[in-house]
Amino acid sequence: QRHLISAADLTRDDAVLILDTAEEMARVADRPIKKLPTLRGRTVVNLFFEDSTRTRISFEAAEKRLSADVINFTAKGSSVSKGESLKDTAQTLEAMGVDAVVIRHGASGAPYRLATSGWIDAVVINAGDGTHQHPTQALLDAFTMRRRLVGRDAGIGQDLAGKRITLVGDILHSRVARSNVDLLHTLGAEVTLVAPPTLVPVGVESWPCEVSYDLDSTLPKSDAVMLLRVQRERMNAAFFPTEREYSRRYGLDGDRMARMPEHAIVMHPGPMVRGMEITAEVADSERCTAIEQVTNGVSIRMAVLYLLLGGNEPAVTHTRTEEK
Ligand code: CP
Repeated sequence: QRHLISAADLTRDDAVLILDTAEEMARVADRPIKKLPTLRGRTVVNLFFEDSTRTRISFEAAEKRLSADVINFTAKGSSVSKGESLKDTAQTLEAMGVDAVVIRHGASGAPYRLATSGWIDAVVINAGDGTHQHPTQALLDAFTMRRRLVGRDAGIGQDLAGKRITLVGDILHSRVARSNVDLLHTLGAEVTLVAPPTLVPVGVESWPCEVSYDLDSTLPKSDAVMLLRVQRERMNAAFFPTEREYSRRYGLDGDRMARMPEHAIVMHPGPMVRGMEITAEVADSERCTAIEQVTNGVSIRMAVLYLLLGGNEPAVTHTRTEEK
């Protein structure tokens, strides 16, 4: 059984295949009927134990565009609030006959446990676990970078060799940062992390990237700057930086954005805290790809679902006649 648990598990060829398949899926969105019959008769459960806006909705949109039957589960309002375990929840889903489980969980390692426990016989896709990994976010970020920095059609088959990507903010608590460092390294990019010293993880020296505490000197050398939210909900209150001191040293405003090369883009996985890591001027500027990242997330999730569940059939070309 194949799963997607960590961006670190992807080879360069795996990652480029997903990006190329997502380009095919993106063409479906340009058609009058935005639907393929690829996963007809397959059931996908979205199992969300943590809050989400973008990931949950875009997985659901991707599943529906591939014609899967979709079951949405959120911990709030379920028997999890009565103390039901992940194992019993999983076995309940297994009894209903599911083909894939998309799981978001506050505990790092929960998707791995689900995939390897033998509790269920379904494909497991990690939609974000604790501070560990968020592989489809890294893939949609790489897809956005490849389209913007390499070129949409020129990008097919290409990786991000030599592109300089800067991730700024709460690296310590960020599964997005970990997934991006792993995937961007695999795709040949040069990654620099910029953060206050208290928000840099112990052991970062072994990660395949540079670390800097000086945003201003890093900006002119960046092709893309990705801002990360300070995750107060995962922090002891004593370690909260104040909004003012954080934005003064690490926030991106119009003056700082002007120090970036002209072609460079500003990225944010969301949710954004306007006024802290990013000003409204930057968030609403042409150079900010936050909304484009959301659109690209649907194509990437369609590609991942297609490759894990329906990968023996051609993705798009084969289905055109069936659609008519
Ligand atoms: N980027 C991201 O994971 O956003 P959500 O928490 O809204 O899914």
